Amino acid sequence: PVVIVRSVAALRAQVSAWRKDGLTVALVPTMGALHAGHLSLVKRGLELADCCVASVFVNPTQFGPNEDFARYPRQEELDAAALASAGCHVLFAPDVAEMYPDGFATTVSVSGVSEGLCGAVRPGHFAGVATVVTKLLLQCLPDIALFGEKDYQQLAVIRRFARDLDIPVRIEGVPTLREDDGLAMSSRNAYMTPDQRAIAPWLFRALTGIADGLRAGAKAADLCPMAISGLLKAGFDSVDYIEVRDAASLAPAESLDRPLRILAAARLGKTRLIDNIGVEP
Ligand code: PAJ
Repeated sequence: PVVIVRSVAALRAQVSAWRKDGLTVALVPTMGALHAGHLSLVKRGLELADCCVASVFVNPTQFGPNEDFARYPRQEELDAAALASAGCHVLFAPDVAEMYPDGFATTVSVSGVSEGLCGAVRPGHFAGVATVVTKLLLQCLPDIALFGEKDYQQLAVIRRFARDLDIPVRIEGVPTLREDDGLAMSSRNAYMTPDQRAIAPWLFRALTGIADGLRAGAKAADLCPMAISGLLKAGFDSVDYIEVRDAASLAPAESLDRPLRILAAARLGKTRLIDNIGVEP
């Protein structure tokens, strides 16, 4: 069974004990409502390190005022059982007061990669992510921390500040786990009605369609608007963006002369879905 730890002091005591025994440590930060995608990060963590800590903390500072913080799914017992069966050793589950005590006044904000895409639609979101992930990395001081490519811009933001702030942790990206119909696994998929769930896989199909177009020599400026109308026709209520970017820098890109990433966000009712795929020349 997984050991549940709620204070930074207890987390540090556990990690110190492992270090004394010469063991290496992986950290998997999450907001809970764990699914197979999260567990694939734990599995990869245990391939790369001896011990694994998963954190579950629904971080208030990364949600906007009109976002789903209050209704974000919280299910600690199920999460603890899933982590135990994945072989995870410790569940770090601090409360808001442990993470943000009275007087908390510091923000980690990352320019460049945080701007555009989700950063343009969710002001302050990546500063909230960067701040909480900085804290989790410094609280645990793992050898390696794992993040999903599902949140590709988030992964780029985390790589950027970890390098900029000399945080001595290896950041490892893990490929997106998908349902059989292509829909990227997400805790937010549970919000959807059956009708919305049937429409949702068109997001992934739109991305693969753009990848095919780029491989055939078409330009992003022609492909993306067509993909947006396709999603609206399929039943999405709105599309926040579909863009083609350089896979490493996330700078805008037009054609397939280097590794690219196609990223999208779209809404089905109140549910906002994001996805992305890579395409190589
Ligand atoms: P959360 O959405 O719970 O995701 C936790 C981690 O699981 C992230 O690194 C995310 O990219 C990864 N993940 C989610 N769905 C995945 C899938 N289908 N395949 C592979 N990996 C997947 O991302 C967050 O939480 C938060 O922003 C956090 C980093 C914990 C900071 O609060």
